[in-house]
Amino acid sequence: MTKEFYSASSADTFNIGAGFGESATPSTVLCLDGDLGAGKTVFTKGFAKGLGSQALVTSPTYTLMHIYDDGRLPIYHFDVYRIDDEDEMAEIGFEEYLRGDGVTIIEWATLIPGLIPKDAIRVTINRDPRGDADGRVITVEM
Ligand SMILES: Nc1ncnc2c1ncn2[C@@H]1O[C@H](COP(=O)(O)OP(=O)(O)OP(=O)(O)O)[C@@H](O)[C@H]1O
Ligand SMILES: [Mg+2]
Repeated sequence: MTKEFYSASSADTFNIGAGFGESATPSTVLCLDGDLGAGKTVFTKGFAKGLGSQALVTSPTYTLMHIYDDGRLPIYHFDVYRIDDEDEMAEIGFEEYLRGDGVTIIEWATLIPGLIPKDAIRVTINRDPRGDADGRVITVEM
């Protein structure tokens, strides 16, 4: 199933993310793709809020992963932009997180195609084709 959302603002993307967080189930894997500044982290902030976390969600670009465990389910928030190869992910125990009860969210998931489970939810955020600076088209395949 593919769903498409139009986001006119950062707040819209946050709210769309929150909707997915509200209905998230254990062991969900959610991939987030789209270029730099597309809104992947904004979506994740909303997702965490929807899942009941009060955590301050920030980009794990340099640390590779943040855990937010004060909500209904733990969230493992990865950003793999700076990863050199998939082996590096194995070293930090990525597959154990995937198999856990929490929700795994991966920004730039297309960079590690061999590690993404087939049943993952795939969210792609594209800039508005009409050129509106704050517009985004959010496509969700699940
Ligand atoms: N419709 C929109 N949805 C999301 N963010 C938007 C939107 N319009 C403008 N923005 C702005 O775009 C930026 C998105 O930043 P964000 O960190 O979420 O991007 P990202 O995709 O995670 O980038 P990166 O690849 O660097 O991790 C924010 O500054 C946000 O305010
Ligand atoms: Mg980000």
